[in-house]
Amino acid sequence: MDRFADRVVLLTGAASGIGRATAERLASEGASLAITDVNAEGLEETAATCRGLGAAVLSMVGDVGDEDSVKDTVGSAVSEFGGLDVLVNVAGILQFKDLRTTTLEDWERILRVNLTGTFLMCREALPHLLDRSGNIVNTASTAALAGHPWTVSYSASKGGVFALTQTLAVEFGKQGIRCNSVAPGSILTPIQQAFDLPEGADAKLVYRIMALDQQRGPETVASAIAFLASDDAAHVNGTCLKVDGGTLA
Ligand SMILES: NC(=O)c1ccc[n+]([C@@H]2O[C@H](COP(=O)([O-])OP(=O)(O)OC[C@H]3O[C@@H](n4cnc5c(N)ncnc54)[C@H](O)[C@@H]3O)[C@@H](O)[C@H]2O)c1
Repeated sequence: MDRFADRVVLLTGAASGIGRATAERLASEGASLAITDVNAEGLEETAATCRGLGAAVLSMVGDVGDEDSVKDTVGSAVSEFGGLDVLVNVAGILQFKDLRTTTLEDWERILRVNLTGTFLMCREALPHLLDRSGNIVNTASTAALAGHPWTVSYSASKGGVFALTQTLAVEFGKQGIRCNSVAPGSILTPIQQAFDLPEGADAKLVYRIMALDQQRGPETVASAIAFLASDDAAHVNGTCLKVDGGTLA
């Protein structure tokens, strides 16, 4: 498949997990890639793999929660490739904590990356996507769709991503822009190192939303993102595609 031949994709969170798998999937389908992450080392590994797959790659260390950094990232991508066809927001962080011990700093840190980062990237990329009738794929979570205990900041941030996505789908749909999200369930990536339940927490309340979910790798989400970003999804706008093995209480 060559669904992304002649397409320029800007992708965040590309140093690891789902972002890396998505970069590799899109590279293997012909995309030119502008990739970004705070993790310089992981980003270079992804860039090298994607170049090995034949892709033109611009890698940029950057923080999606920092407005100036986002402006630089989008500006550099457009200067390098002459425009943008697709924005994929994958960068994210997770924290397990009881509401009562969740500090304002915890809350603001998680929302800053997951929600504000998605907002900033969408806002800065949108004028360029409008030029090419492009599309956006954001990364929500099943945590946005059902109660996921001890993740109040994370779940709220992902609920925000879900709503932001639907909003943009309606706001810009008639101008030729599609905006969709994926909602991964439990995917085997490094983010699961944050899976540290508070003392006394009833793990069954977490596992209830994964009960039938055989844990799978990030390539399962990458293929869903590639579908939504491609012309195969030309009539798909404002949807949230769960990639969770079919579970959700
Ligand atoms: N793995 C899962 O089970 C799961 C489930 C639901 C949703 N998600 C979501 O999928 C996305 C990818 O997660 P993953 O599982 O691949 O985890 P991961 O930790 O492997 O990847 C996250 C990437 O985001 C990058 N990142 C973090 N903060 C950043 C910032 N401020 N600016 C730029 N990059 C930043 C990290 O360096 C890392 O490379 C996240 O948004 C996560 O919330 C994951």
